[in-house]
Amino acid sequence: MSIDYHERIPNNVELGSSRALQRALEHWQPHFIDWWKEMGPTAFGNADVYLRTATAVDAAGWASYGMVKMPDYRWGIFLAEPVPDRRIGFGDALGEPVWQQVPGEHRSTLRRLIVTQGDTEPASVEQQRQLGQTCPSLYDLRNLYQINVEEGRHLWAMVYLLHAYFGRDGREEAEELLTRHSGDPDKPRILGTFNEPIADWLSFFMFTYFTDRDGRYQLKSLAESAFDPLSRTCRFMLTEEAYHMFVGASGITRVIKRTLEAMKALGGDDPAAVRNAGAIDLYPTARAE
Ligand SMILES: [Fe+2]
Ligand SMILES: [Fe+2]
Repeated sequence: MSIDYHERIPNNVELGSSRALQRALEHWQPHFIDWWKEMGPTAFGNADVYLRTATAVDAAGWASYGMVKMPDYRWGIFLAEPVPDRRIGFGDALGEPVWQQVPGEHRSTLRRLIVTQGDTEPASVEQQRQLGQTCPSLYDLRNLYQINVEEGRHLWAMVYLLHAYFGRDGREEAEELLTRHSGDPDKPRILGTFNEPIADWLSFFMFTYFTDRDGRYQLKSLAESAFDPLSRTCRFMLTEEAYHMFVGASGITRVIKRTLEAMKALGGDDPAAVRNAGAIDLYPTARAE
């Protein structure tokens, strides 16, 4: 199933067949763009950036690559293909067919899970918004923006679920996802770690190594959800998430390699000397003193 890019909102969920849902999401779309311009990357908004864009959900080739201005990125709604006769894997409803609608008794729990997941996605874009100003290389800059636009798409993924399955309170939650902001004393993001500033690239690599990895396990467990649309959404998000962790792992690898080179050249591991040589020392500050 490929994606119709003539639609205002690219999607593989047959959005056109539900006018009310389509209209509601088209109403949310400009709010999202305003949020991106106000809270997204602070630099290069008008520059062409080489970016991956999701264009299908099959393993054979799900993305296209090209130069895009970030605010013109085609954020779309993509669910992985349904698994035929998928059954609930655990719990009280073990073995029963998965749910295509939200059961009343699980509505508030599911909404909370989706809102919390959705909240982290734009939160990370906000945390990282200044990093483009200090990127170590063009390669790193491109990776940063790739991750930023895809976290934006993950917000779309959760907002779609809220709009499609949670009625009026879902739409209200979708608006709230754009009004809470990372580190805002009055309206902070839901999870503590998403309110911490990420002001330097070592923090960014640590974030993509550890926090995105934590997020990956979160997505993997949501991919097992008995609520099938949530499962299918998260399965596709995992496809994009793999690259985020590659950025973290390869980033930390490069940092440590540089440290080891400096230590070798210096013939020691004195933290001040290592830092003077332009590398990051291995010891936490407390130990170095
Ligand atoms: Fe994400
Ligand atoms: Fe991510």
